[in-house]
Order: sequence, then structure tokens, then C-alpha cells
Amino acid sequence: MKLSLIIPTYNERENIVNLLSRVKKEFEVHNIDGEIVVVDDNSPDGTGEIMENLKNTYSSLSVMHRPGKLGLSSAIHDGLRIAGGEIIGVMDADLSHPPERLSEMYNAVTSGAEIAIGSRYMALGRIEGSSWQRRLMSRGATILARIFTEVEDPMSGFFMFRRDLIKNIEINSRGFKILLEILVKTKPGKITEIPITFTDRRAGESKAGLGEIFFYLRNLWAYLPNRRNIVSEFFQFALVGILGTFVNLAFLYLLTEYAGIYYLISASLSFIISLTFNFILNKLWTFREMLKDKLMIKYGRFFAVALAAFGVNIFCLYVFTEFFDIYYVISQTLAIGVAFIINFIGNKKWTFTKNSSF
Ligand code: GDD
Ligand code: MN
Repeated sequence: MKLSLIIPTYNERENIVNLLSRVKKEFEVHNIDGEIVVVDDNSPDGTGEIMENLKNTYSSLSVMHRPGKLGLSSAIHDGLRIAGGEIIGVMDADLSHPPERLSEMYNAVTSGAEIAIGSRYMALGRIEGSSWQRRLMSRGATILARIFTEVEDPMSGFFMFRRDLIKNIEINSRGFKILLEILVKTKPGKITEIPITFTDRRAGESKAGLGEIFFYLRNLWAYLPNRRNIVSEFFQFALVGILGTFVNLAFLYLLTEYAGIYYLISASLSFIISLTFNFILNKLWTFREMLKDKLMIKYGRFFAVALAAFGVNIFCLYVFTEFFDIYYVISQTLAIGVAFIINFIGNKKWTFTKNSSF
């Protein structure tokens, strides 16, 4: 089967020539019938002209020139229009993705996988040369994406799929995360992840800016199937949390003042009482379950999520205060917010999973 490998470029003159020769070698060694489709956005560094000249050396190279920098996903989207293969591959031009994995991906797709993904985050996958800030961002974004997919590395820019897979979907071409878009919209049944070492670019610079974060979050939002439902669950959950805090304080006061219990003991008791109160209200009201349905298992899970959220709370409080030099009261405010989100997602996805709307 024929493979079309789409490579978007913007100012990649220092990388692309080397990349193409490695890709060509991989095609030859493994007998892959492959064409290369470079989509260049009129790179000021002359990448487009270099590609035109290379056409003499590579018979299977096509180059699409677009008038200006129109974005990574949109470059792939447009590249698809001139790609002739039944199998489509996508990779970055900056040597971050090893072309030596292409044959493995190709074999996976020709032997039944609907999509093969070069994965940094599965066992044996690695990242080299990225700053810790970039790693942290990438991890955070990946965790969020896991709401929608089980794929270990749904943000990878290195993947291959059968063209058929996307024939019925509309690809939103804003932003950088086209793989996630494909996964969410096509829900492929057979996915093969192949571990890769991602080597962050040595030459040139990343084209991802703050705008990508915005597009990313906006896309995620659009992927939620039952938005209204989630919003109301979120607010109901928050309201229950506020009520629970009052229950907690009321019992602390009553048990200490009227039952004469030492205040640290009554604080522990009122913690358990308010937790139980929150659990019942969330079960019945926020997530609309029968009270009796798996009562004890769910109670246990609710408790476990609360403990985990508490752990995260303390951890964030520490990190914000010590490493980011934030005043500890402000840190705690932020940390409570983080813990709240953990609580909500944990309970929605795990404790009350049956009624979960995503
Ligand atoms: N034609 C075109 N137009 N190409 C572009 C544009 C554009 O506007 N923006 C970026 N590219 C090309 C780059 O030249 C490079 O070949 C590839 O797209 C990736 O761009 P980078 O700027 O290197 O992106 P990155 O390293 O921050 O992000 C990559 O890795 C991420 C994983 O950490 C991308 O593959 C992301 O999709 C991926 O999530
Ligand atoms: Mn890159």
C-alpha cells in the first residue's frame, strides 16, 4: 500500500535535508512505496526553495507552498489534499521524530491497526533535550487529554493511519493537536503505540506559542459531548462542597462545646461527618444515583479521592510556597482550587463513573 508522509515546515532549512535523506533511506531499506509531501508556509529562511531544488533528487517528493504561516494542523489538513496514498503519515521536520520508526508504524497499519502512534509516554518511550517547563506543560496537557482517550501519548506529532479512518470527519485545523482531534472524532478501535525517543529540536525554534494553549483548551471544551450536564454537575459539586464546609464547622462547634470533646478529636469526627454528608448529597443529587447502588464501594472511593486530593493540596501548597515564592495563604487558595478539581474529576470518572457523561 502506498504511504504519503506529510511534513509541515516553517523555517526548517537546517533540519529538513537531513530528515529527508533519513526518510528516503528508511523507505528503501524496508521497501516502502512512500511519497513525501512537504507543506511549507513561505518560510523566510528559504526552506521552500530548498525543497523545490531537492525535487530533482527525490522523485517522490511533492511540495505545497502556502502564502504564509497558517498553522501546523492546517498544513497537515492541506497536505492531505495532494497526498495520494492509502496510508497517511505525519511527522515534524525538526528531527524530533526518528524516521527509523516509520517502517514499524507502516507495518502496524498495513497489518490491521487503524492508527499507529509514535509514543513518548509509553514504556521505553523517551524525551531528550526538552526543558522541564516544556515537559511539565506536555505532561499536563496529556493528562487533560486522557479524559477523552486511553492513548498514552495523544499529543504526539508523529503518527500514521489509514486514510479511510478520517473520511467521514471534519478536521478542525486550528492549533497543533491534530492527532487528538482524529482520536476523539473517529474513536479508532485498533490503535498501536510504538515507543519513540523524542529529541527536541537542536536547530531553529518551536513555533508553538501561548495561542496554542488557548486553542488546545478550546478544542478540549468542544470535545465534551455533554457540556451542559458537566457544567451543572460541576456547580452542584461545588455547592455541596460549600455546604459540607458549614456542616463540618457546625459539628466541630457542637461536639467541642456541648459534648465536651477535645477539639482535635471533634475536628476528625466532623471531617468524617461532613465527608459522609457530601458523599450522600453528591450521590443523590449531583450524579443522580440511587443511594443503595454500590453504597459501600462508592463511599470507599469517595474517601480515597478525598485523601488523594488532600495529598495534592499539601503538595501544591508546598511547591507554590517554596519554589514559586508565593505567600502561603495565596498558595493555599490556589492549592484548594487544584484539590477541588481533582476531587471533582476523580469522583466523576471513578466513583460515579456509571452516570458519567464523558
Ligand atoms: N507549514 C507549517 N506552518 N509548518 C509549521 C507551522 C506552520 O504554521 N508551525 C509549525 N510547523 C512545523 C514545524 O516546522 C515543524 O516541522 C513541525 O511543524 C512542529 O513544529 P514545532 O514548532 O517544532 O512544534 P513543537 O516541537 O513545539 O511541537 C511538536 O511536538 C509536540 C509534542 O511535544 C508538534 O508535533 C506537536 O503537535 C506535538 O504535540
Ligand atoms: Mn519541535
